Amino acid sequence: MRIDKFLTEMQFGTRSDVRKIIKQKKVIVDGELITSIKLQVSPSKSVIQVDGDVIHYQKYYYYLLNKPAGVLTATKDRKQKTVMDLFNSVDYRDDLFPVGRLDKDTTGLLLITNDGQLGHQMLSPKQHIDKVYFAKVDGQVTTDDVIKFETGLLLKDGMQTKPAKLIVESYNSDSNISEVLITITEGKYHQIKRMFGAIGMKVIRLERKKMATLELEPTLSLGRYRALTDEEIESIK
Ligand code: URA
Repeated sequence: MRIDKFLTEMQFGTRSDVRKIIKQKKVIVDGELITSIKLQVSPSKSVIQVDGDVIHYQKYYYYLLNKPAGVLTATKDRKQKTVMDLFNSVDYRDDLFPVGRLDKDTTGLLLITNDGQLGHQMLSPKQHIDKVYFAKVDGQVTTDDVIKFETGLLLKDGMQTKPAKLIVESYNSDSNISEVLITITEGKYHQIKRMFGAIGMKVIRLERKKMATLELEPTLSLGRYRALTDEEIESIK
């Protein structure tokens, strides 16, 4: 790989920014000060220093974000805050994107990566990836409803959903609110809200807890993110 490509990928700016850094004699490769932007380096073997700091090559980045409500699942928006605005300047890269989509008012687990192949694979309907949501629903969710979810529902637009697991965790008769866990394997637009809509109920809060083998830990507060561990990356590949 050319040194200018290496440094661009490692977030040292555009090709022209990188050219400047090299011309300013700030880059050392294997102990030698370099001046050519065309120098070939080995990302895994060459020891590359910029301003004295050794730069370790990493092609793909994986983050687990606890999405807060009120933020769009998008990479950019002219008016509204997006999940990418939650990244600090050290971790932000313009090739990062969210895998799948949570509604603006939905909170919880969102995988963010620059690994296009993995993103594609995880969103493929053929993969049947489990996604687990916690929901507060207005009204009492009954065992009848559990069976309807298990059988598959006909949404108002005529679309049929695949079987989904619904567990009723609690029902508060004072507030008339049920707390449930739902596992779905698809990713239709507003799927959970539309599934409850199909049985005449309204979701008042929705949080994604799990996606494939990834799980949101309670210590990761809303709006915060962390890098996936090597084990987690292996488990989703
Ligand atoms: N289902 C929904 O209705 N909304 C989400 O954000 C995710 C799943």
